[in-house]
Amino acid sequence: MSDFFTIRWSDSSVAMIDQRLLPHREAYRRYKSCEGVAGAIRSMVIRGAPAIGIAAGFGMALEARSIRTRDAGEFVDRMRAAGDMLVATRPTAINLAWAVRRVMALVEKHAPSGVDAARRLVLREARRIMREDEVANRRMGRRGALLFSKGSSVLTHCNAGALAVGAYGTAIGVIRAAHEAGRIKCVFVDETRPYLQGARLTAWELKKLGIPHFLITDSMAGHFMQRGEVDAVMTGADRIAANGDTANKIGTYSVAVLAKENRVPFFVAAPASTFDLSVPSGESIPVEERDPDEVCCAGGRRIAPHGTPARYPAFDVTPARYIAGIITEFGVLRPPFGVSIARVIPRQR
Ligand code: MRU
Repeated sequence: MSDFFTIRWSDSSVAMIDQRLLPHREAYRRYKSCEGVAGAIRSMVIRGAPAIGIAAGFGMALEARSIRTRDAGEFVDRMRAAGDMLVATRPTAINLAWAVRRVMALVEKHAPSGVDAARRLVLREARRIMREDEVANRRMGRRGALLFSKGSSVLTHCNAGALAVGAYGTAIGVIRAAHEAGRIKCVFVDETRPYLQGARLTAWELKKLGIPHFLITDSMAGHFMQRGEVDAVMTGADRIAANGDTANKIGTYSVAVLAKENRVPFFVAAPASTFDLSVPSGESIPVEERDPDEVCCAGGRRIAPHGTPARYPAFDVTPARYIAGIITEFGVLRPPFGVSIARVIPRQR
């Protein structure tokens, strides 16, 4: 059991650990409105694709409770507006739109026969999304752990641990299960500039889990692969297109190219909610641009002259040809991904 939680519904509100303060302070924030949850997603109190999907589900539940009308049409319209607001907070991770779509399908189906019942169903669905996420992560952990032989060293980028999901983690979930099975020698943790999810969050989680690790700067990944010190790369994903192209934290693509050059298998771990079968390839995945000022700073301190122009795409797309396997709750998908994804991943609801 972890001694922290990422997100939880209690006392008619949503509590989240404030990830902006980690690793220095473990503090929780409580939200009582959908606007509050949208703000938390936008400002990175909560982040990570599955986690923001779960937050969106609870945001919809808060909205449903706050709408006092008994008119089904009005209820549906206001719920739809709340969903649009949530989806607009971060454009790349599909889990957000997926969760909103799932809740809206229920609202549209049940509101005409009673707004009160529909309201209750929204909270039930949000809780279900969170429960299913943990089950999927544990399944991925069990399946993915088998990919490692004893004494493996694995490199990861960004944070795809318990902080990025409801519980357990995707890429870190697999590493965690492999560690429990005695197969992990050490984890190389990319610091993940500019937001430092690796240094601040993954290192914090691995320390709590007692998994041996080294923090490295992003530019060191190739060096350790070239020296034969990395047996596999394991990352999470924010959106996977129908052909297997995968959007994940900026820098992932570079890691994948380095892995191929050095014959290190590059794996992605992601639940079905991260697949977007409406997108044929990675070219159509929107890449979020965040405040470029973050690139001019490190750890809150300015490192570039004032006024330096910068760019900050928060994600990049790794073409499917660099990926050796995608670990899902349904098993490990192998190339050609167009075929394996279509066979295994359910069509979006
Ligand atoms: O900007 P972030 O921190 O939300 O980006 C998170 C990532 O890129 C993760 O690797 C991804 O969401 C997978 S998390 C299971």
